[in-house]
Amino acid sequence: MSLVWQPSSWRSHTALQMPSYHDTHALQETERRLSGLPSLIFPGEISQLRERLAAVSRGEAFLLQGGDCAESFDEYGQGPVESTFRVILQMAVVLTYAAACPVVKVGRIAGQFAKPRSSDTEVQDGVTLPSYRGDIINGSAFTAQARQPDPTRLLTAYSHSATTLNLLRALAQGGFADLHEVHRWTADFVRSSPQGERFEELADRITQSLAFMEACGFDARRTPQLHAVEFYTSHEALLLHYEEALTRFNERTGNWYGGSAHMLWLGERTRRLDGAHVEYLRGLGNAIGVKLGPSASPDDVLRLMDVLDPDQEPGRLVLITRMGSDRVADRLPPLLRAVRRAGRTPVWCCDPMHGNTVTSSNGFKTRDFERILQELRGFFAAHGQEGTYAGGLHFEMTGQDVTECRGGAQELTDEGLSARYRSACDPRLNGSQSLELAFQIAAVLKAAHKSG
Ligand code: TRP
Ligand code: MN
Repeated sequence: MSLVWQPSSWRSHTALQMPSYHDTHALQETERRLSGLPSLIFPGEISQLRERLAAVSRGEAFLLQGGDCAESFDEYGQGPVESTFRVILQMAVVLTYAAACPVVKVGRIAGQFAKPRSSDTEVQDGVTLPSYRGDIINGSAFTAQARQPDPTRLLTAYSHSATTLNLLRALAQGGFADLHEVHRWTADFVRSSPQGERFEELADRITQSLAFMEACGFDARRTPQLHAVEFYTSHEALLLHYEEALTRFNERTGNWYGGSAHMLWLGERTRRLDGAHVEYLRGLGNAIGVKLGPSASPDDVLRLMDVLDPDQEPGRLVLITRMGSDRVADRLPPLLRAVRRAGRTPVWCCDPMHGNTVTSSNGFKTRDFERILQELRGFFAAHGQEGTYAGGLHFEMTGQDVTECRGGAQELTDEGLSARYRSACDPRLNGSQSLELAFQIAAVLKAAHKSG
């Protein structure tokens, strides 16, 4: 690993999971245009997220990071973003209220467009084409034209991200997230579900508490924390041409920042120590996530931490474990122990989705709600056992009424999956399954906080 870091120094390392562009001239032209555009995120916001994550690493807050597996260029308009945002608000309020624990809210949103794939090509009826790698790279239709990586998609991704981010900033700060509006966050299809009803009860209690406090003379209008939330964005930093073009130097702090999101993460497939993705991320001032699957050894983790966080800065690293429900008890404790013994305190976050993907009897890529819960329980148990703090949840969801994951209180079955299976990528929790998950975690957190 060369010691001199530059936004472009990843180019002399092996870059896995990246497309090869035929038209290098068009690619360079796109990179030139992107590098002249404003950063989507500003350094002060990144520092603020880092402070919030430092609180998580001290066991004083909980990280909630969720959104789509992959965003799509076709999902236009306010609906999808607003519905995802309101479910995250609902989950946050459940955790904040029931566990009396501050929640750091981070979306997998406004930039989550690139997907790693297990194979470079896909074969259908004897025809071989490049795999679909997410809308920032190529199109999902099975035609040679759609599957050709197209550099102009980087500019489309930028403008989609800017539009989404603008909407999110408005929703977070403009009144929608006001605690007085808590009853408005429940979507119609969730309202009648058991979790929906449970949420409405909790919302009643919040409304009553606010009214009580106000009757006692507390001036809610002068308390900005009640009216807005801090909401941060994140995505997997996969397409380094895009990330490099949005990297900016900040004179004030003397640091480089990735301008595409507050937090960027390394995938399980791109965390090779000598690889391009590690090289790129190590130079940024952003919060950095690392996905860790069952193959990660304690040594892998410690060496990654040395490279990505040599100065052991609080709030810098979020280790996102995705072991699978049947392996978490076995694979997670050795990592926790090694990191604790090294005197390090990263944020530990559980992704109970990616280690639990299966194919249904009728051919749908799905996940069992029960398995997701099982991995989460295993995650909390492992931290309890090792004396580390179980700091967060990383999950794939949508606010829409989809049928992609089995089980939950709705008891969705294989047959039920076909009704509204809309994911172009991984199966997501729907609005009521997400709420159900939040109630389950709240119960565990509450017990954990009680026992200190
Ligand atoms: N600003 C506080 C927070 O983010 C309280 C708050 C306002 C809140 N609106 C919210 C909490 C919506 C959860 C959901 O914690
Ligand atoms: Mn996914």
